[in-house]
Amino acid sequence: MKTEIGKDISAAKKFLESGEPVGIPTETVYGLAANALNEDAVLEIFSVKNRPHFDPLIVHVFSIAEIEKYVEEIPAKAKLLFEKFSPGPLTVLLKKKKVIPDLVTSGLDSVAIRIPNHTLTLELLKQLDFPLAAPSANPFGYISPTTAQHVFAQLQNKIPYILDGGATSIGVESTIIGFENNEPTVYRLGGLAVEEIENVIGKVRVELTESANPKTPGMLKSHYAPRKNLKIWALGHSDIGTLGNTTTGVIAFDKYVDGIEKQNQILLSAKGDLNEAAKNLFAAMRSLDESDVEKIFAVKFPDEGLGRAINDRLNRASS
Ligand code: TXA
Ligand code: MG
Repeated sequence: MKTEIGKDISAAKKFLESGEPVGIPTETVYGLAANALNEDAVLEIFSVKNRPHFDPLIVHVFSIAEIEKYVEEIPAKAKLLFEKFSPGPLTVLLKKKKVIPDLVTSGLDSVAIRIPNHTLTLELLKQLDFPLAAPSANPFGYISPTTAQHVFAQLQNKIPYILDGGATSIGVESTIIGFENNEPTVYRLGGLAVEEIENVIGKVRVELTESANPKTPGMLKSHYAPRKNLKIWALGHSDIGTLGNTTTGVIAFDKYVDGIEKQNQILLSAKGDLNEAAKNLFAAMRSLDESDVEKIFAVKFPDEGLGRAINDRLNRASS
């Protein structure tokens, strides 16, 4: 199968309607989408990604009214968050209605649902008469794609079409929150900072698991990983230099570290902006993975705002 890249919503629509998976842009990372209500189409996603069936998929819709078609109820705090942050990098776990196949939720009672903030994909969703199940469009365990070319590099000849919406604006996956027992709990740090959520609904728990777990089965300890060895360097920047030679690559924040050739270093944000750093993270991991360096060091980022999601991804990448 030859994979085409383009901006043609009707081409994407045609493939999706015939049950084929399509790469789609969102504001976080590119997704590998299929008709969420068609089990055969959903099975294609698992097979193209090499994804285990125990890992459920996020369902994408274009409005809050659409969400209501697929879930039993939206708790008041969840509604507040959707109203404030959607479309945007917010995924909420809600009790599913029967129309959502068990395959999508890996047999769990709740479905993960979100409204992605990308004009092409929102328009596509409006034109379809079904929601889209979409995990990140990378082979299971590898770095998530933030451009159509990243998707192409890994899934070419496995899918018919990639809808090209340019580089994603946020760059890390959506934040996942659930409301079990009326207790708001963040299960995945992502593009919507915990501080922003707390400004709207008050204190939330953050429960990030480091192994396979029943709540968000995809949060494996090792994930988002380059093929090369990646380590986090929590000590002062300058200490990296003591290991330094031409075979070491560095992911840095706003300053180069001493002792390592600059050409092997990537600054995620020269102006020290954590949002910009998040946006550049996965492309940096990819480019060092494809370069000549033998190992990769990443500095630890400030533990605030999107810095928390960046540190989470680096931790999993280094496992
Ligand atoms: O930003 C994003 O969320 C991107 C874009 C494409 O929308 N999608 C994404 O999907 O990151 P994926 O499949 O790579 O990660 C989804 C995570 C997994 O950790 C999965 O286990 C969890 O969400 N998840 C999905 N459905 C769930 C459910 N019903 N209950 C608990 N966790 C769920
Ligand atoms: Mg993923």
